[in-house]
Amino acid sequence: MKKTAIYPGSFDPVTFGHIDLVKRARDMFDHVIVAVARASDKNLLFSADERVDMLKQATKGIKGVHVEPFEGLLVKYAKSRKARVMIRGLRMISDFEYEFQMALTNKRLAPDIETIYVMPQEAFCYLSSKLIKEVAVLGGDLKYFVPTFVEEKLKTKLRKKRK
Ligand code: PNS
Repeated sequence: MKKTAIYPGSFDPVTFGHIDLVKRARDMFDHVIVAVARASDKNLLFSADERVDMLKQATKGIKGVHVEPFEGLLVKYAKSRKARVMIRGLRMISDFEYEFQMALTNKRLAPDIETIYVMPQEAFCYLSSKLIKEVAVLGGDLKYFVPTFVEEKLKTKLRKKRK
């Protein structure tokens, strides 16, 4: 049977760090579903459809990867996709508390689903969508952080927001 893992997140927008993680997850699992949260308590810049489209484009060269939006409880969604594993990235010690809380809450809700933490390549350890948006707002160069097409979308989105 094919082993499926879910990689959930808000991906607002997708960064080189996320793409690195998708590749690492795909090395371990036959099928990786990148699950894009429709809603978040974060202040999202892009719509769910925009975030899904960007992830599709960013991962189109990687076989066995499927991108889709999800809503509601993550563990319910994972079950609906018959996935027993969820992948999350762990970059810094500062990620740990939030990730630990989330993993334990999910474990309580669904003991049969494991969360696996994967560290990105060190070059991507400091990347965060939040800081990248800040750099974009302030007109900084984004080529180290996101693919060119994402940089363009960020600039367009911010231009529209300013109007
Ligand atoms: O990239 P993010 O914003 O850190 O991803 C967080 C996400 C989407 C994985 C988390 O907010 C989530 O699982 N949302 C779905 C709702 C849910 O199941 N909440 C309980 C999780 S403890």
